[in-house]
Amino acid sequence: MSPKIKFDKWTDLYAKRTVALRSSAIRDLFIVASRPDIISFAGGMPDTRSLPMEMIAEATKKVLRKEGAAALQYGSSEGHPGLRECILKLLAEDDIHTDLDDIIITDGGQQALDLLGKIFIDPNDTIIVEGPSYVGAIQAFSGYQANMISVPLDENGLSIDSLSQTLGDLKKRNQKAKFIYLVPSFSNPAGVTLSPERREALLKITKKHDLLVIEDDPYSRLKFGGGKIPTLRSMDDSLIYMGTFSKIFSPGMRLGWITAPKPIIEKLNFAKQASNLCSSSFTQRIVEEYFTNYPWQSYLEKQTALYKERRDIMLKSLEKFFPSDARWTKPEGGLFLWVTLPKFINTAELLAKSINEAKVAYVPGEAFFADGSGKNCMRLNFSYPNKEQVAEGIKRLGELIKSQTKLYKTFTGKLRLNND
Ligand SMILES: Cc1ncc(COP(=O)(O)O)c(C=O)c1O
Repeated sequence: MSPKIKFDKWTDLYAKRTVALRSSAIRDLFIVASRPDIISFAGGMPDTRSLPMEMIAEATKKVLRKEGAAALQYGSSEGHPGLRECILKLLAEDDIHTDLDDIIITDGGQQALDLLGKIFIDPNDTIIVEGPSYVGAIQAFSGYQANMISVPLDENGLSIDSLSQTLGDLKKRNQKAKFIYLVPSFSNPAGVTLSPERREALLKITKKHDLLVIEDDPYSRLKFGGGKIPTLRSMDDSLIYMGTFSKIFSPGMRLGWITAPKPIIEKLNFAKQASNLCSSSFTQRIVEEYFTNYPWQSYLEKQTALYKERRDIMLKSLEKFFPSDARWTKPEGGLFLWVTLPKFINTAELLAKSINEAKVAYVPGEAFFADGSGKNCMRLNFSYPNKEQVAEGIKRLGELIKSQTKLYKTFTGKLRLNND
């Protein structure tokens, strides 16, 4: 903002929905967390340093030589057919069978969330999200003035008992949620995965209550081992499934997709036209070329192995340096883990000290709840910092948290360490 403008004289002109528009805690942290003196566990970034730059340069050149004019032109709103073919193949590998026409390309998963909000949410509509949920989804849905109800998670993902209770309560009040949004595999922020039994149970209960399901799945291919877990969409073709190239390739390409039943795709297409006409014809073709003619799987495998190594170091360091009553999730894939600290620690208040003194950044837990809970929690990212930074950062953070605990003991005369 220009330093000369002190007051916002346009306040009366803004639409009411802008009241709910906030900057995300993660975007706010972006600048500080990218300072070279800070070890950042705050981002959600894949390690693009390990991508094959020469191959991507070659793929880009090929696109320009082969179909430069089209790549530099507007494209169709539903997306470049060649890239949708690639997506169709990726989906088939996950037992998701759909038509080319039932896929729409978006500017990453984030635009998919915004478009879904745009076509489904009227002010005060109730929707159900996980507690904690992806901060960008909370931000997108808040923009359409949704009334968000959080259903808690545990190590096995969304609590089906709590969901059942929530849906029952809504029914008693003659209300109905428009949809449930969830990240069932290696979730952001918690790093947990919905168990196969709960997947079955979720679909049973959503069917019973005629509740639309939105499955957001950026992370299922970033798996550290074990057997394949079926996507919800492979078990039920009436739901909405979102994917993205951001975590399996590059967020810089800004490309994701939605597959959904035809009438929903049609509405999304109209919303997309109004939003940005089409996604980049250029990056769509580069991604198509890379996913068709280059060994992207082997680079993704290498990256995933790197993330696993960093996760292992983070888990070991947490064990060693965090207070014994802190708890954390043990993700089997993805980019994040979730730490729960004793109740008296407020991670948002601790953040300034953590950045200024320990030189470590993380995202405070309350950013991931629509209702302001999660104050004693934090999200830690292990995909971007290197091994040494992970070990050192967790050590410093652990020491800071322990010093807070000591301080609390001094003030209160007691050490209330249990999570009461
Ligand atoms: C669960 C989830 N959905 C969507 C997104 C949006 O990512 P993008 O717009 O880069 O695809 C993210 C990014 O971190 C995410 O974690």
